[in-house]
Amino acid sequence: MDDYKKHIKDKVVLVTGGAGAIGSNLTRELADLGASTVIVLDDMSAAYEWNIPSLPNVLFVKGSVTDEVSLKRVFALKPDLVYHLAAFFANQNSVDFPQRDLMTNGLGTLLVYQYAQMCQTGRVVFASSGCSIYGHAAPLPLKEDFMSMHLTTPYQITKMLGELYANFFHHHYGLPIVKTRFFNSYGPGEVPGQYRNVIPNFIFRAMSGLPLPFTGSGEETRDFTYVTDIVDALLRAGYFEKALGHEMNIASGAEVRILDMAEKVNELTGNKAGIIRARPRIWDTKKRLLASIERARELLGYKPKVDFDAGLKATVEWFRTYWNEIRRDAEFPPGMSAAAPGVLARKEQDTDTTDIGIAARAMTDGERLSQVAEFSR
Ligand SMILES: NC(=O)c1ccc[n+]([C@@H]2O[C@H](COP(=O)([O-])OP(=O)(O)OC[C@H]3O[C@@H](n4cnc5c(N)ncnc54)[C@H](O)[C@@H]3O)[C@@H](O)[C@H]2O)c1
Repeated sequence: MDDYKKHIKDKVVLVTGGAGAIGSNLTRELADLGASTVIVLDDMSAAYEWNIPSLPNVLFVKGSVTDEVSLKRVFALKPDLVYHLAAFFANQNSVDFPQRDLMTNGLGTLLVYQYAQMCQTGRVVFASSGCSIYGHAAPLPLKEDFMSMHLTTPYQITKMLGELYANFFHHHYGLPIVKTRFFNSYGPGEVPGQYRNVIPNFIFRAMSGLPLPFTGSGEETRDFTYVTDIVDALLRAGYFEKALGHEMNIASGAEVRILDMAEKVNELTGNKAGIIRARPRIWDTKKRLLASIERARELLGYKPKVDFDAGLKATVEWFRTYWNEIRRDAEFPPGMSAAAPGVLARKEQDTDTTDIGIAARAMTDGERLSQVAEFSR
């Protein structure tokens, strides 16, 4: 076994957001590698119990990274290694609820660093976002040195904030910290929903016999990264000394056209409903995304292993295995911006499909504030 995997044995590892899409995969891997305890701290705001690995060395603590009682509880177990993955995810969610975004991704991240510092945690690995922090005008492939002040959502701003706080804690207190910038994760473990990524949402719609909505031309590209490759990078980031204090892209290093991805999804699921045009999203300004993975290769020895076709097939298989749970839990509340309209249309037309998950929606910050303004007039 490789040293970066061996060193997990008998360690106490804290994974914030460990019940989420990437966190649940990381938790399972850490537990399988023989960690003495993998503590999952998750408030379950965007996660499902059936998705948390149920293993004897996994300790689930339901709580928020913004709640000091929960933080005291998990840091009292003296984690050797902390993976900070909890986040208010992602762009559209942060546009609708910027205050919650700032609380979780800003204050929550600051608190995790403070507790890690106070408890002298051996290492913190922060989940940053390469899709977020380079803005829309960076030259491709995206390299870590590029800095942008032109971020287009609160989520992008608070992911950058998490990196800036990391720099402060590393520089000021010598907190051993590594910043990993993920690109478009996909794979088993990500339950579709209004605020989720395009691949699970397309698979969900395709398996529901609905057309796949394009908010752009379809010519856009993304650097889709299979979740087990991200997990492998995280294990490496928790080990290699050279990585300390650095930020690095974790991606596949290959571009996939959205149109090609959609066609593959329809083909794999046997969906005949094709594609449809949807309203563009103001913040969605990136035509192409492609990351340089040179730095991760150099500092971590990272090399993605799963190619896109194999990863997509495995993701569809996971959907088939958990279809009942996914159909029950996928949340597409009515009247909001993302991929909901087709699902709703189908619900209205066909009463046999009412079990396609549809939840009541919360008021966005904007709606709430305009109500307050109305009231105080
Ligand atoms: N998925 C991607 O494509 C991607 C890309 C770049 C960066 N990231 C980052 O990677 C991390 C994991 O992403 P993911 O796709 O697994 O997202 P996810 O939403 O599935 O996981 C985040 C988890 O955090 C939990 N959470 C939310 N608020 C919390 C709080 N206040 N306290 C405790 N737990 C809380 C949620 O319930 C969820 O289980 C996030 O930090 C995300 O910003 C993800």
